[in-house]
Amino acid sequence: MKAFGPFLIVAIWLVSCAFASTFNPLQHSGPASPYFDAPPEEGISESTPDGCVVDQAAYIVRHGSRYPEPGSFSGWQSLYQKIQNATFTAKGPLNFIPTWHPPVDDVPHEPLFLSSTGALESFELGVQLRKKYGLTSGGSNFTVWAAGQQRVVDTASYFIKGYLSQGNYLTAPDENRAFVVTMPDSVNYTFADSLTSSNGCPNYSGGNNGTNQSNAFRATYQTKIAKRLNAYLNGLTLVETDVGVMQDLCGFQAEVNGDTRFCDLFEKSEWLDYEYAHDLNYYYGSGPGNPFSATVGYGWLKAVTDLLVAGPNATTANATFTPPPLIMSFTHDNNLPPIVSALGLWNTSHTAGVYPLPATRIPRAPFAFSASRLVSFRGYVALERLSCAAPLADTVKHTAGQRVALPGTAAGAQKYVRVRINNAVVPVPGCASGPGSSCPLAAFEQYVNGPRAAAAGDFVKVCGLQGVANATGAVDFFTQVPSTNAQSSVFQLPVN
Ligand SMILES: *[C@@H]1O[C@H](CO)[C@@H](O)[C@H](O)[C@H]1NC(C)=O
Ligand SMILES: *[C@@H]1O[C@H](CO)[C@@H](O)[C@H](O)[C@H]1NC(C)=O
Ligand SMILES: *[C@@H]1O[C@H](CO)[C@@H](O)[C@H](O)[C@H]1NC(C)=O
Ligand SMILES: *[C@@H]1O[C@H](CO)[C@@H](O)[C@H](O)[C@H]1NC(C)=O
Ligand SMILES: *[C@@H]1O[C@H](CO)[C@@H](O)[C@H](O)[C@H]1NC(C)=O
Ligand SMILES: *[C@@H]1O[C@H](CO)[C@@H](O)[C@H](O)[C@H]1NC(C)=O
Ligand SMILES: *[C@@H]1O[C@H](CO)[C@@H](O)[C@H](O)[C@H]1NC(C)=O
Ligand SMILES: *[C@@H]1O[C@H](CO)[C@@H](O)[C@H](O)[C@H]1NC(C)=O
Ligand SMILES: *[C@@H]1O[C@H](CO)[C@@H](O)[C@H](O)[C@H]1NC(C)=O
Ligand SMILES: *[C@@H]1O[C@H](CO)[C@@H](O)[C@H](O)[C@H]1NC(C)=O
Repeated sequence: MKAFGPFLIVAIWLVSCAFASTFNPLQHSGPASPYFDAPPEEGISESTPDGCVVDQAAYIVRHGSRYPEPGSFSGWQSLYQKIQNATFTAKGPLNFIPTWHPPVDDVPHEPLFLSSTGALESFELGVQLRKKYGLTSGGSNFTVWAAGQQRVVDTASYFIKGYLSQGNYLTAPDENRAFVVTMPDSVNYTFADSLTSSNGCPNYSGGNNGTNQSNAFRATYQTKIAKRLNAYLNGLTLVETDVGVMQDLCGFQAEVNGDTRFCDLFEKSEWLDYEYAHDLNYYYGSGPGNPFSATVGYGWLKAVTDLLVAGPNATTANATFTPPPLIMSFTHDNNLPPIVSALGLWNTSHTAGVYPLPATRIPRAPFAFSASRLVSFRGYVALERLSCAAPLADTVKHTAGQRVALPGTAAGAQKYVRVRINNAVVPVPGCASGPGSSCPLAAFEQYVNGPRAAAAGDFVKVCGLQGVANATGAVDFFTQVPSTNAQSSVFQLPVN
């Protein structure tokens, strides 16, 4: 073994160099990153542990890649006008600027809607989860849940098409079996009973210091970048806001039309600064740094935990609906960090000085709250229920006529929960004793009903909603279809 030591070190060095030389700005663009699998946290393998099957899972997913919001689109248009109004020369890495135009070719319709990349990301997730879990057999009904805006409902619909593939029975429409439950999006009258509960808690917006923190951090680096780039320009001067738009255009232009020239314009440290400004925005805006975040995310976590405890094809007390074993919900970026807060993740650290995230420097922690790895387009938080037994032995005997049960599928198999965020397994603090750093289901149930319930507090009180008609902290839309409180409604796919 010893003789291979130096060889092994060289091999590891080569592998690290390969990673270092492939720094990809698209994986450091925060909410403008097209979907990518996050690297493993703390070296935990992302495969389902040997001897286990996933018998139930719940996902909350941001919509897929989209065109810009009207606000950021006007920033793109101003940059374009500024360039077009000037007479100047641009050289080197900026020589493409005189040819550039914003990647929106149907202004009245594209902003805010899914791009083709967003449609593909959604379809691909459907294909992946069908292959990974196989939880819905042919002919079974499949219901998913979505906040009501078009891009979110479209994400749900493309997901279903990828997941079911069959099922569009033009000649026998009553055999179609995909249903989407939609609910009012970003309204303040369904409270916690919503996939956009961030809009249902009045105190939450007062706790949002994300813009202040991220703007303060941007002020520490954007001037320097503008100065560096201006050396390539004669007759045009870029300012801080132009730098912000150009960095946003890396992710957006890559997903809209595949153009990555803005990605090549910035250096690695400039991308890490840009990325951290997003981290601060989400951490203090909608994540653990907003004191109302856990309260806003707790309703979803509690409803899903109750269903995982009940088990696949079972439901909770007073339910009128049994959700499928794969419980899919689709929403917007700002509704994912509250789930992280409710779970108590990414807010404790082995390394001192990481939380709350420092406002003026990037903490050197390998596993920390990261917007790029959470609220990328089609980013998600998932809870998987594992059912586990001893793995198959090396030699397995088969008796004629008796199919051997897969480990984990027999009665009496032990149950566990794992959290995955953009594919990476993120251990539950203090509860990772199960296979693959999972948390035993009973301990997870206690964690959610005990310390996390205490951290979240009572939604109605904490949000300042005492005395408001219909105010509720409970999520019932998974088990009441449709739900009166959530004001949800159901439609069947395909829509003719
Ligand atoms: C570009 O020029 C037009 C016409 O003179 C003017 O209205 C507009 O404000 C200018 N835009 C910028 C960003 O300078
Ligand atoms: C749940 O129901 C589906 C559809 O009826 C079935 O295929 C699946 O085996 C059931 N799962 C369990 C764990 O009972
Ligand atoms: C599927 O669900 C729909 C709507 O809830 C229901 O009308 C239909 O009967 C269900 N079909 C099957 C096969 O369960
Ligand atoms: C909801 O928003 C409306 C319109 O902004 C406002 O008048 C109302 O007071 C809000 N309701 C709650 C419960 O915050
Ligand atoms: C953020 O900045 C604005 C404007 O300076 C200020 O009014 C607000 O109180 C700040 N928010 C927090 C939570 O500090
Ligand atoms: C909000 O952020 C600003 C800028 O970083 C900071 O000075 C201020 O203390 C923060 N306010 C709160 C309430 O955290
Ligand atoms: C179910 O309904 C009963 C009677 O209305 C109520 O007392 C109980 O709290 C409900 N259970 C749940 C879990 O909502
Ligand atoms: C996150 O950590 C900070 C600092 O330790 C703490 O004040 C805050 O309550 C934590 N947030 C949540 C949601 O657990
Ligand atoms: C929440 O809002 C209410 C009503 O506006 C207010 O009285 C209360 O102090 C707020 N709670 C917290 C914890 O800030
Ligand atoms: C409360 O809910 C009921 C039933 O959905 C509805 O008729 C009523 O308008 C709601 N009240 C308010 C103030 O939103």
